Amino acid sequence: MRYVKLGSTGLDVSRICVGCMSFGRSDRGSHEWTLDEEASRPLIRQALEAGINFFDTANVYSDGTSEEIVGRALAEYARREEIVLATKVYGAMHEGPNAHGLSRKAIMTEIDSSLRRLGTDYVDLYQIHRFDPDTPVEETMEALHDVVRAGKARYIGASSMYAWQFSKAQYTARLNGWTRFVSMQNHYNLLYREEEREMLPLCEDQGVAVLPWSPLARGRLAREWDTTTERSRTDQFGSTLYQEGDRDIVEAVGRIATERGVPRAQIALAWLLRRSTAPIVGATGPRHLEDAVAALDIDLTDEETENLERPYTPRAISGH
Ligand SMILES: NC(=O)c1ccc[n+]([C@@H]2O[C@H](COP(=O)([O-])OP(=O)(O)OC[C@H]3O[C@@H](n4cnc5c(N)ncnc54)[C@H](OP(=O)(O)O)[C@@H]3O)[C@@H](O)[C@H]2O)c1
Repeated sequence: MRYVKLGSTGLDVSRICVGCMSFGRSDRGSHEWTLDEEASRPLIRQALEAGINFFDTANVYSDGTSEEIVGRALAEYARREEIVLATKVYGAMHEGPNAHGLSRKAIMTEIDSSLRRLGTDYVDLYQIHRFDPDTPVEETMEALHDVVRAGKARYIGASSMYAWQFSKAQYTARLNGWTRFVSMQNHYNLLYREEEREMLPLCEDQGVAVLPWSPLARGRLAREWDTTTERSRTDQFGSTLYQEGDRDIVEAVGRIATERGVPRAQIALAWLLRRSTAPIVGATGPRHLEDAVAALDIDLTDEETENLERPYTPRAISGH
């Protein structure tokens, strides 16, 4: 495994982060395709054995059961001081008022609930899952700073939003002497490259780590365009993100994979690994983790890169 500093911090993370949205009870939350605890644990163990130390989950994944499964497995298989455990706050965890968002009340409630489910005293990276336009940014950033000061999180990060929103949050924190975000978890892959306009240059300029979610476009970049899987048939959010014109890009990935004699996923991830800190890969089988690790050894030529990038056309913002 290769490790890299998380942005401008001193924290070592593996270049592959395991996306734990794949793990959780399918009868809880909105992901029907998730693996239950018994099926999840061998994958978590396999990741650790491959040297992966970076795990990303969220309070909302399978209604908290992802955090429970991940917490139990890591407690059993890993050394806590080596692991970088990331979770998120923003989505609704109950019905009624104060169910979601980034108010001080929501953040303080949700960090304690996440820690209880994860079975740990602290998370390494506490991320806001989205920007909350209905809460003053000062309230959110001060509450996150207090979570860090209380020792419940080591670092804070953010996820999909506009670059101006991220910038506003960072400068608000800086002006007040509060903790700033060290990472941006954004929607970025060969089928969705709008982040190259504003967010990626901002992150590079500010030394912020880039952690792309859905690096394989939820599997589309890893198989032929017309192939379906159980997840692709039931992935409601995923069905809103991509378009018919993406077929040309998927076929370009397929041609290069065939020429090199490797699975498509390795090509798509090799492209993204050169443009980010650590892609957050979603694995529902052992082969998926193997491909993610193998992608670290693939160096695409300039010609291959050009062939992968050429078919892309600008598109509407999605995934915020
Ligand atoms: N911050 C956010 O808003 C946000 C949003 C989405 C995700 N995330 C994070 O990002 C993580 C990854 O998201 P994702 O699961 O959508 O990522 P992804 O890596 O784009 O998609 C994973 C899917 O691709 C397929 N796949 C993976 N490796 C493969 C391989 N080697 N060969 C063939 N197929 C392969 C599998 O599909 P099948 O199961 O269909 O075979 C798998 O479920 C999540 O777990 C979560 O931590 C964050």
